[in-house]
Amino acid sequence: MSNRDPRGGASDAGEAPRKGQPKHSASRRRFMKTVGMSSIAAATSGAGIGQAFADEGDAPAKADDTPAAGKTRVKFKINGQMKQIDVAPNVILLDAIRDELQLTGTKKGCDHGQCGACNVHVNGTVINSCLSLAVMHDGDEITTVEGLSENGELHPIQQAFLDEDAYQCGYCTAGQMMTATYVLGSSHIGDSDDAVREAMSGNICRCGAYKNILAAVQSTRGKV
Ligand code: FES
Ligand code: FES
Repeated sequence: MSNRDPRGGASDAGEAPRKGQPKHSASRRRFMKTVGMSSIAAATSGAGIGQAFADEGDAPAKADDTPAAGKTRVKFKINGQMKQIDVAPNVILLDAIRDELQLTGTKKGCDHGQCGACNVHVNGTVINSCLSLAVMHDGDEITTVEGLSENGELHPIQQAFLDEDAYQCGYCTAGQMMTATYVLGSSHIGDSDDAVREAMSGNICRCGAYKNILAAVQSTRGKV
């Protein structure tokens, strides 16, 4: 895969810490903890205005409960919860996740399948949610960054991003972590640094935190 860093730099370009800047500053740690805890709060609250069901069989259709004209009803499991949303056929999964379910950890970067900021897991693989229509996911099992943590505990990859200072602005971080967890769980992807760089080359970090992202991924190996 090609490196699609719009700055044209190498995949680990720009990773050197600024002179005099501590690797793990207190303010950065507080920021990442805030990001992480926001995700946890969203995940544990069962947040989302889409209608939730214990299982698909718990959603009997009512005579007056039909999608509005021009909308299609879609039911899927997201972060362990069944959700039902009514969406127009041209709504992309990314917008459904963010706007219909209020799971805003997943970010819109390029909106063209080129940056990986919108990456989520669908049925065990990782996809660009900006390139997929929501109506195509009826019955699917989806995991977003809010679904990584369990019981209020950060997922090991979230902890590793914190420990390795693997972010600056944080905008790409959710997508990076979703791809990273897929990479770590995929036996067909090698465990060398080059293999990880290649597998994650679809995730662009405009801040150039690639070296630390790689360190976070490799330090999580064996923990997931
Ligand atoms: S927002 Fe989907 S790949 Fe960039
Ligand atoms: S941390 Fe800013 S884009 Fe990656």
